[in-house]
Amino acid sequence: MLSLAFCRLLSLSLLLPSLLNGTTGITALEVILVSPTLILMMDRVSGDPLQIDGHQAWVELWDLETNTGIPVNAVTDTFCASGAVLSNGTMVSLGGETPEIPAGETTAPDGDGRMGIRIFEPCASPSGDNCTLFEDPATLHLAVTRWYPSSLRIFDGSLMIIGGTNASTPFYNVAPENSFEFFPPKDNGQVRFSPFLERTVPVNLFPRGFALPDGKVFIVANNETVLYDVEAQTETVMPPIPNGVRVTNPMDGTATLLPLSPPDYVPEILVCGGSNSTDTVPSADLSSQDPASDQCSRITVTPEGIEKGWIVERMPEGRMMPEMILMPNGKVLIINGAGTGYAALHSVGDPIGNSNSDHPVFTPVLYDPNAALGERFSREGLPTTDIARLYHSGVTLTPSGSIFLAGSNPNPTVVESATFNTEFRVQFLNPPFTTRSRPTLSGFPEQVAFNQNVTVDIDIPGDLDTSNLQVALIDMGFSSHAFHSSSRLVFLNAKLSANKKLLTFTTPPNNRVYPPAPGYVFVTIDDVTSTGTRVMIGNGLSPPVADQGVPL
Ligand SMILES: *[C@@H]1O[C@H](CO)[C@@H](O)[C@H](O)[C@H]1NC(C)=O
Ligand SMILES: *[C@@H]1O[C@H](CO)[C@@H](O)[C@H](O)[C@H]1NC(C)=O
Ligand SMILES: *[C@@H]1O[C@H](CO)[C@@H](O)[C@H](O)[C@H]1NC(C)=O
Ligand SMILES: *[C@@H]1O[C@H](CO)[C@@H](O)[C@H](O)[C@H]1NC(C)=O
Ligand SMILES: *[C@@H]1O[C@H](CO)[C@@H](O)[C@H](O)[C@H]1NC(C)=O
Ligand SMILES: *[C@@H]1O[C@H](CO)[C@@H](O)[C@H](O)[C@H]1NC(C)=O
Repeated sequence: MLSLAFCRLLSLSLLLPSLLNGTTGITALEVILVSPTLILMMDRVSGDPLQIDGHQAWVELWDLETNTGIPVNAVTDTFCASGAVLSNGTMVSLGGETPEIPAGETTAPDGDGRMGIRIFEPCASPSGDNCTLFEDPATLHLAVTRWYPSSLRIFDGSLMIIGGTNASTPFYNVAPENSFEFFPPKDNGQVRFSPFLERTVPVNLFPRGFALPDGKVFIVANNETVLYDVEAQTETVMPPIPNGVRVTNPMDGTATLLPLSPPDYVPEILVCGGSNSTDTVPSADLSSQDPASDQCSRITVTPEGIEKGWIVERMPEGRMMPEMILMPNGKVLIINGAGTGYAALHSVGDPIGNSNSDHPVFTPVLYDPNAALGERFSREGLPTTDIARLYHSGVTLTPSGSIFLAGSNPNPTVVESATFNTEFRVQFLNPPFTTRSRPTLSGFPEQVAFNQNVTVDIDIPGDLDTSNLQVALIDMGFSSHAFHSSSRLVFLNAKLSANKKLLTFTTPPNNRVYPPAPGYVFVTIDDVTSTGTRVMIGNGLSPPVADQGVPL
């Protein structure tokens, strides 16, 4: 058995030298970590090789221990959907598209996904065997059709679902759904109309929303921003993105809530990339060669910060469709995307094959939020790839501290002989600490309440300077269309015991600072990060949950 497995491994690596860490069976255009060992990926029916029940699968579970995937059954089409994890640890996928009948077939295996709600209950199987996605479109569906919506977990552990479109959009949002709704539903299932979304048509697909530590939601769409009070149901206009830069689909920049730190958890939003092109010309008048924006804009969401407005910084290069990953040491990895063009397929005047974008950016850049203005971007030690990750790519931090990279398909079907092919190769970007002797944590409780001191065992390599200690609680978010919705990093106050064998940290003060759900706790000592341990944060009940912990 052993030697057989060994031979198989050996021959695989000899035969497939360019396959870095396996290949997915679908395009990984949506990616979310659903357990310490499993990533769930979603796509559509467009000729992907992965099969289930005699037809193409469009959902796949990726086992991080073996770097192999298995198909998962779904009922409706998950293309350009969003999702997040609820306060009880259940992952929900929302929205999707109308199916297309595959070439040579008379029916599609997938149903209309625009009102889709798909439930992935917590699944203990490390390999994903027997983990299922539940769907019953007749009884469980959104209030309205939403293709290209965003969704984020809010303070009561439910999901806020933002915008989207009703119908196929070749480029601009031509059939906008300018409203919010929730899962589980609020307001007896009625949607809430959003003047902000109406104003930001036609570049308001996949709005970027952030749950702030006071429970309000900051939303970015097109070149505008707003503060939404979920409880009072009011929108307050916030400063627009400077210099007319547009940052949502189909002019995808990306955005993140920067790490929150005790004692005040002052929220700051960073928005990077996108395009300063006009949104008032037909897409055929735009070019795949139009330079992407190199602008990053940062704002502190306090009365003083709002008064001061956005501070502009410049990345080393422009990026359309970048993504940002919050690293456990508080730095922000900016990765993927293109130097020119736009998101979406075959709609500009001069697409490259089907791709509206060109000039893939192959080297990531690290942003240090705490460095002085002008000194925040660095590429020291960051590797360059030769795999383009353009439209329909997915990326996520994993519990090992590595970055999982997959997908890219700027094509309507599987294409293997274009400049920008359908990409099935999986890569991992391994930070320098992954090859070092690292701190290890053990003895975690499975669940912790807010505002509690928690003590765990720690083993620290002798060469690390323990005066430089960070403990981060991370939600890795849901990656779709150049955005990690619900992604969040909260630093925790922490202290080592005198003998350095015990680590005590204080959980977030309340469910608004960290919307309740499982998170991963990482410790970084002397810039060497441990693996992340999954812990349920809060009471673990089904949403909506009551306020917990102490107010700020
Ligand atoms: C999956 O289900 C099958 C059939 O019920 C069972 O035989 C198998 O042990 C299960 N596998 C795991 C990993 O739970
Ligand atoms: C949404 O799209 C469907 C076709 O899929 C169409 O029948 C319907 O009228 C559209 N609704 C709106 C509000 O645009
Ligand atoms: C945002 O875009 C709209 C539509 O193109 C434009 O009218 C408006 O002036 C822009 N706002 C800013 C602040 O650039
Ligand atoms: C638009 O963005 C491009 C690329 O970053 C830049 O060269 C140009 O100066 C910008 N134009 C304006 C009016 O800001
Ligand atoms: C946690 O421990 C610290 C240090 O002993 C103490 O100051 C703090 O009050 C404790 N916090 C809670 C929530 O118990
Ligand atoms: C979590 O809550 C959702 C929404 O009510 C529900 O569908 C799901 O079954 C719940 N999961 C668990 C594990 O309780």
